[in-house]
This record gives sequence, structure tokens and C-alpha cells, in this order.
Amino acid sequence: MSKICSIIGARPQFIKAGPLSAALREKFVEIMIHTGQHYDHGMSQRFFDELHIPEPDYNLGVGSGGHGAQTAAMLKLLEELYVKEKPDAVIVYGDTNSTLAGALAAVKLHIPVAHVEAGLRSFNREMPEEINRLLTDHISRWLFTPSEASKKNLKLEGITDNVHIVGDIMLDSVLKYSEKAKKSSSIMVDLDIEKNEFYLATVHRAENTDDKIQLETIFQMFSELDKKVILPLHPRTKNRMEEYSLEVSDNIKIIEPAGYLDMLHLIQCSKSVLTDSGGIQKEAYYLETPCITLRKETEWTETVDAGWNTVTNSSKSIILSVAERSDEIRLLPHPDLYGNGNSAAEIVNILSSEIS
Ligand code: UD1
Repeated sequence: MSKICSIIGARPQFIKAGPLSAALREKFVEIMIHTGQHYDHGMSQRFFDELHIPEPDYNLGVGSGGHGAQTAAMLKLLEELYVKEKPDAVIVYGDTNSTLAGALAAVKLHIPVAHVEAGLRSFNREMPEEINRLLTDHISRWLFTPSEASKKNLKLEGITDNVHIVGDIMLDSVLKYSEKAKKSSSIMVDLDIEKNEFYLATVHRAENTDDKIQLETIFQMFSELDKKVILPLHPRTKNRMEEYSLEVSDNIKIIEPAGYLDMLHLIQCSKSVLTDSGGIQKEAYYLETPCITLRKETEWTETVDAGWNTVTNSSKSIILSVAERSDEIRLLPHPDLYGNGNSAAEIVNILSSEIS
């Protein structure tokens, strides 16, 4: 059997690797490498347990650091492992520093790279994620995109070979786990909250957390909402809030980073989601919850065109009006924007027809 190295390192990558790893192992030997970019139990191990993802074969333990130091540490260790393991291909996911390092170390050794979630663009090159995904797309052999729009983005950059629209791998997971989340999550009881009686918020992007005024603006907007705001706090945001000595209003309930099933359940039950995460915008759409994206732009433009997602990073009036219209938004048509939840099988079919 041919050998594939899968590179994961940050929370959303564990969720994406769950369905793909299971499908891959039917046709390939998979060596899973965790870079250690995310390392807290609540940001890492918990997802392996919940999604029954095999334990990584290697954990590089790279941890936090500046972009250069973090990416460089990964590059060095990944190169050594690729030389040792001699994989026939490498799979990387999304847009993190682990994605770029995984792809770059591989191509330099002439190992072909498959990029899952290729072609996404915010057209904002100040985002580290935009640089990571741009560079990764340009050095990948196989580009697995979630939609026609992402395929078009690649075409505009001259990338037309081996581009496959396979839908969104995160939908595979949502379909598999949303019923289970409904039945088994106790988070609503634990937090003493009722369906539709709260907002769910997440904030972690550098553009929101690394600017004190911007982070204050976001918390100010949350404080004006008519209901409780549940905020599972990302470690990056926690660090910044401490640094800025930022106080939050009484309607904001800060909790530890949530597990996957609890998160799905919170999304399902919230009146609206407010987030700067890419994954949560899509999960909100799949679970038919209106979303406000706390950014200047989004890569997931189809959700905006469908009317379910609204983008604003600082307009109180937009946020309040979306919150008010949330019941109306729920009545909008809800087309399949990113496939039908069969991404893992499609990716493995394509790879197994090309790698012998
Ligand atoms: C990274 C990705 C982003 C992805 C996000 C998901 C990059 C450039 N960014 O951002 O694309 O959406 O992951 O969460 O790769 N920390 C901990 N414990 C952990 C993990 C992080 O305390 O388990 C803290 C550290 O202080 C660290 C900070 O969080 O400095 C930021 O971590 P980092 O690895 O830079 O990435 P994220 O901000 O999480």
C-alpha cells in the first residue's frame, strides 16, 4: 500500500482530519503527524477522543512562537520525518502555519502535496492565513476545493491542473456528529441556558485580538445584545485580554474552549452565532443558525450571498439588526453550498486513482 503523511496541528485540522483519516486508511497507510501548534488538552487531545481520530504517529511538540520561529521549527522536523518515512504524498489542511510548513517541507523533497480546502481567498494579505493558503495552493499537486468559487479563485492565479471540487470536509463531520451532539451534550444544562435565548461568540483572529481597540469594540458590541453571549475563549484571546486588562459586561459568559460536540450543540441552539472563525461560519450554515462574521471579509462568500451570514467587524447597528432578524433569516432558502458531506470519500477516490 502507498504511504501518505497527514499533517495536522491546529484545532480545525483535527476536525477535518477525522473523516478523511478514516477513509484514507481503507486504501493507504497513513502516518499522522501532529506539529504540536495547538497543545492544550482542550485545544487538541479532546478532539482526538471525541472524533475517534487515531493517535498521531508523531507529535513534534513545536508549540507557540512567532510565525517565523514556529514555521521554521516545523519545517526542520517535518523534513527529517519525510526523509525517514518516505511518503508517496503529503496531505495538508486549511491555512495554518502547520499547513504551509507541511507543504513546503514536502515539495522541496519532491513529495507531491494534496491541499484540502484549497482556493479559499479573503484577498487580505495582512492575514497570516491568506499567505499560508496562497503559498500552499501554488506548491500543491492536488487541490481539493469546496466550491465553484474557490476553483475560480485558483484559475485567476493560473492554477487549473488537478483542481477538484469535492465539497467541504467539515460537512462530513457535521452530518456524522450533529445528532449525537443533540443527544449527548449536556452543555445547555451545565450553562443553564435555553434554546434561542443566547448568542454564541468566538474570537481568535490576530486582526481582532492583537489590536486593543478592536477587541474592545467587539466586546462593546456584545454588551449591547439583548441576550446572554456565551464565549468559549481561545487561549490567544485570553492572553490578550489579560494583557489589555480588559473587563467584560455581565451579559458575556466566558467559558473554556468547548469540545466538538458541545460546540455543535451550542451552534444548533443559539439565536445567532458571532464569530471570526472560518469553520464556525460554515457549521452555523449547516445547522441553520444565522451567523455574523466579525471580520472585514470572508472566504465563505456563498453563505453571505445566501443571506445566512453577514460580515462586519465593527458595526453595532448591523449586528443588532441581524440579531433582530434572526427568525426571518431562518426562513430563507438553504441550498447545499459546499457539497453533500461526501468529501472524504471523493478525495480518497481521486488520490487512490493517482497514487499507486
Ligand atoms: C491558528 C491558525 C488559524 C486557525 C486557528 C484555530 C495560524 C497562523 N493560525 O491560530 O488559521 O484558525 O489556529 O484555532 O496558523 N495557545 C495556547 N494553547 C494552545 C494553542 C495556542 O495557549 O493549545 C496560545 C498561545 O499563547 C499562542 C496563541 O494561543 O501563542 C496562538 O496560537 P497560534 O498557534 O499562533 O495560532 P492560533 O491563534 O490558534
